[in-house]
Amino acid sequence: MNVPLAKLQQIPAFVAAVADYESLAHDRVTEQAWAYVASGAADEWTMHENCAAFQRLSLHASVLCDLSGGNTRLTLFGQTFASPIFLAPIAYQKLVHPDGELATALASAAAETCMIVSTLASSSLEEIAQQAAAPLWFQLYFQPDREFTRDLVQRAEAAGYRALVVTVDAPVNGIRNREQRAGFSLPAGVDAVNLRGMRIPPPHGGKAGEGILLGGSLLASAPTWKDIAWLRSLTSLPILIKGIMTAEDARRAVAETVDGIVVSNHGGRTLDTQPSTIDMLPEIVGAVAGRVPVLLDSGIRRGSDMFKALALGAAAVLVGRPYIYGLAAAGAVGVAHVLHILRAELEVTMALTGCRDLAAIDSSRLRLVPRRS
Ligand code: FNR
Ligand code: LAC
Repeated sequence: MNVPLAKLQQIPAFVAAVADYESLAHDRVTEQAWAYVASGAADEWTMHENCAAFQRLSLHASVLCDLSGGNTRLTLFGQTFASPIFLAPIAYQKLVHPDGELATALASAAAETCMIVSTLASSSLEEIAQQAAAPLWFQLYFQPDREFTRDLVQRAEAAGYRALVVTVDAPVNGIRNREQRAGFSLPAGVDAVNLRGMRIPPPHGGKAGEGILLGGSLLASAPTWKDIAWLRSLTSLPILIKGIMTAEDARRAVAETVDGIVVSNHGGRTLDTQPSTIDMLPEIVGAVAGRVPVLLDSGIRRGSDMFKALALGAAAVLVGRPYIYGLAAAGAVGVAHVLHILRAELEVTMALTGCRDLAAIDSSRLRLVPRRS
């Protein structure tokens, strides 16, 4: 068993890129927690492909452009953010730092960006909202108990959350072999506090021979498109669907009058061997045809990755593991620094490609280079 090192009180001078946080984080959490945050599904092909696909796209420089008066500001659903770099919903953040989601909320407020709080947060959604002097969105996992789900939505509204992000790509967890091998389970003191008091669903179906999952109660209560319509009737908050990976599902989501789509494969944690998000983005953006904003996550590690996503039609991007590594290494300061690094890289990329604001970023800045291996 490794003994995690103490959290950093200040950022070492050698830290220059988000990747530098990975080993600092690894050294400061238990092996079990590391297996949970760092792993992907099965052979982790999709997890690696998410990053590799960004590197296959090359950028065109553009010189002698007028860059005066530039900025990275973004307005979405009437809300203004300093940059298009949002914090993806990540469960159980107290696994990696005792301040957990509260530290993340502090850093998000300092960066004037958007934190998306997970249903499976290890701090209460009300406490996080009190901590945050910045817009928060709430990520919803439908619970088998739909009344409890409705209460969660109402609690989020009452606490001032400004949008709902409904994650639809994980009705079951992916096959996470690294977690299994590490024998991962939540340690004492870390749990899904927002779900406390939920009625455990009674066993349902699951006759002999129907498989372990199929025919069982978990999948019987998994959400369907009908639940999205039900949610629409419950709330006037903007609803985004997270976990769309095909043009067909994107069209359906728009037809169900959702307000936004997040192209995501859950950072490669659900269905392994599906393509990267950046490779799927153009056809999904084409299918949506500007009717709602399309956001993207999975594999973003550099400002240039964000730029490429914006160039291919994303309105904003979410980062996941990078800020969790910042949190694990150095708490709120680490998260704030990760956000700062990414924003600085995005701004440099914009300057060197001649884009003074987000509206100027388009696909003429990109070229697909053949893969060399
Ligand atoms: C996640 N993700 C996630 N998504 C979600 O909707 N609700 C959740 O509770 C979680 N929890 C979670 C925990 C951990 C440890 C990870 C790494 C990821 C997925 C997350 O929101 C996002 O889609 C990915 O993390 C994006 O990929 P990158 O940036 O990590 O490559
Ligand atoms: C995960 C779930 C909680 O990716 O979304 O671990």
